[in-house]
Order: sequence, then structure tokens, then C-alpha cells
Amino acid sequence: MAKYSKEVLEAYQKAVEIREKAYAPYSKFKVGVALKFTDDKKYYLGHNVENASYPACTCAENVALANASIHHGLKNFEFMVLVTDTEDVAAPCGICRQKLCEFVPAEFPIYLSNLKGIQKTVTLKEILPYQFNKLS
Ligand code: THU
Repeated sequence: MAKYSKEVLEAYQKAVEIREKAYAPYSKFKVGVALKFTDDKKYYLGHNVENASYPACTCAENVALANASIHHGLKNFEFMVLVTDTEDVAAPCGICRQKLCEFVPAEFPIYLSNLKGIQKTVTLKEILPYQFNKLS
């Protein structure tokens, strides 16, 4: 993983740690997310929170966005790291792509990772082409 910056590697570790706290008794699919801002040294973290009423489940990205908004605001996101424990890395779900689209630039990097490390880098634009965003 040497090709990644110190900050990306730090965020990866944070995402791995927060993933452990995920509440995923139904899917058993734990997700951890770390969001980094351009003007802040801190990482804002999230994990998924499931519910017996499945549509009430909350994705890790959503928790990280809410956490960021409380402590920092929703501007100037720099990158996001997403961690699962699957061999094939997971990418944000469609709803999370749209939620990110509201606040991050098209070239926003997302580091898709598993417990072996960061496996793939994508931009939001790559995973959400033809964005629906009323402000741009
Ligand atoms: N999940 C996330 O946290 N983020 C995603 O982008 C995809 C799905 C969670 C929701 C649910 O708790 C579990 O993964 C299985 O879908």
C-alpha cells in the first residue's frame, strides 16, 4: 500500500477500526467509512447501523456524512475510504452515491478497501455518471 499518502493510509486504519463497531446482526456485512476534509486534520467516521425493519438500516457513508456535518460542516471533502471484509471490494450503494453527489466534487476519490488494504481507487463521477445535482 506504499503508493498511498500518509493521510489516506491513516484514514484507512480509522475506517478499519470503526468498521468493527458496525451494528450488522442481520446482514453480517460490516462497513467502515472515513471521510477526510481539505482543511481539517481529522477524519469523520461511520459504520452501518441495521434494524429489524430492514428499510430502516443506515449505511456507513450516511453515518459518516452526519458525523462530519455535526463536527465540521459539509464543505470541502477531500476523499473517502470505504472498508468491508470481502475479497471483492464494495462500492457505495446507489443512494449513498447520490447523497455524496450533493456535497463532493465529481473527481472526489473513493478508496475501496478490504482488510488486506486499499484495492481500488474510483472517483464519484466514475461510479455515478450523469449526476443529478441541482446546484451545479
Ligand atoms: N451498506 C453500507 O453501509 N454502505 C453501502 O454503500 C452498501 C451497504 C450496508 C447496509 C447494510 O447494513 C449492509 O451494508 C448490507 O447491505
